[in-house]
Amino acid sequence: MNDAPQDLREQALTALTAARQRTAGLTDCVDADDLTAQHSPLMSPLVWDLAHIGNMEELWLLRNVAGHDPMHPEIDPLYDAFEHPRAERPTLPLLPPDEARRYTAEVRGKVFDVLEKTPFEGSDLLDAGFAFGMIAQHEQQHDETMLITHQLRRGAAVLTAPDPDPPAGPPPAAREALVPAGPFMMGTSAEPWSLDNERPAHEREVAAYWIDTAPVTNADYQRFIADGGYTTRRWWAPEGWEQIRRHGIGAPLFWWSEGGQWLRRRFGVTEPVPAAEPVLHVSWYEADAYARWAGRRLPTEAEWEKAARHDPATGGSRRYPWGDEDPTPEHANLGQRHLRPAPAGSYARGASPLGVRQLIGDVWEWTASDFTGYPGFRAFPYREYSEVFFGPAHKVLRGGSFAVDAVACRGTFRNWDLPVRRQIFAGFRTVRDA
Ligand code: AVJ
Ligand code: FE
Repeated sequence: MNDAPQDLREQALTALTAARQRTAGLTDCVDADDLTAQHSPLMSPLVWDLAHIGNMEELWLLRNVAGHDPMHPEIDPLYDAFEHPRAERPTLPLLPPDEARRYTAEVRGKVFDVLEKTPFEGSDLLDAGFAFGMIAQHEQQHDETMLITHQLRRGAAVLTAPDPDPPAGPPPAAREALVPAGPFMMGTSAEPWSLDNERPAHEREVAAYWIDTAPVTNADYQRFIADGGYTTRRWWAPEGWEQIRRHGIGAPLFWWSEGGQWLRRRFGVTEPVPAAEPVLHVSWYEADAYARWAGRRLPTEAEWEKAARHDPATGGSRRYPWGDEDPTPEHANLGQRHLRPAPAGSYARGASPLGVRQLIGDVWEWTASDFTGYPGFRAFPYREYSEVFFGPAHKVLRGGSFAVDAVACRGTFRNWDLPVRRQIFAGFRTVRDA
């Protein structure tokens, strides 16, 4: 990102506009009944996400940045994620689809004015246009959430996208890469639109380890299944064993086997599970069990980030594995350009200096780590973004999926979820001590 003030203002405009286009694409392709239906108790109706996007934008950009009065104070509690859990949202008197569209469009119209007039300095919220960047990221995060709802939705396919190109360039030189022992800089104090949990930059000492140069594939994972992975208790954390027993889980979510072949449902289409693709829709417990079966383990968050950002030549940390330039389609599979991950070993140009690939994009990667604040963490601009989720209940995911936009993905970006969750676009890679 180029940080001159005028560039940042243009970047904010571009990011907000791109997010809204994606939101429209995810909500205009289904009818009003579909928008208000609950496709899974894990998710909100799509129309909730739509109005929540507008409500957060109104709160932060119109009220907090520009000092406007609330437009419709009576609807605020409906769209407060902490007042109503997802399962309960369909029973709320939500704005119907057309009103939700009108409201978010009205907010955006006013935001264009505010964006033109607001100085990009003078407070933490205004510096480098942080509030605008945060809101563009927020909308993109909900766009990924809505894409998850589409994946859970029953019925004919409504979304299409071209498949990723076959890998360009040579495959990785080896299955794993050695990351030498030593300190590295984790997190960031410089990235202007980084969120509170990515800050501040701080030194971490990491012992030497070997890391997979690509995510674990469906073919790898099928070997675990065929070897009795789901019926062998010793591979599983006790709570994970409990979960697979109770729910009869024996494969990733959306998979079933028929005539000796694994099939899956992907955005309304049934297809054979592609061998070379990174495995998707596994819980942290499944990833953890696979790693133990393979004689390996999940990377800690520090190990993941050192592999993704440490430059052995300079000792510094990069924004991305390939360097400091923003992602292009040659570097990574991001932004819902495709509706699936690319085969493992793709994106030679996105490799780290040590030859580790696909750290950014394709699939979120489960790490061994609980979600906690870095030393010196300060909640900003609201405790409910990160801080209330800190603790042992949530595991960290890194690197983003094919469904993450570049504005909400970088080497320092941290996502988190409960270890039982399987609907998210998550896979993993493994490590071992050197
Ligand atoms: C960072 C993806 C866990 O969706 O719960 C959206 C992002 N926070 N609105 C979520 C978020 C507030 C958050 N995750
Ligand atoms: Fe939100």
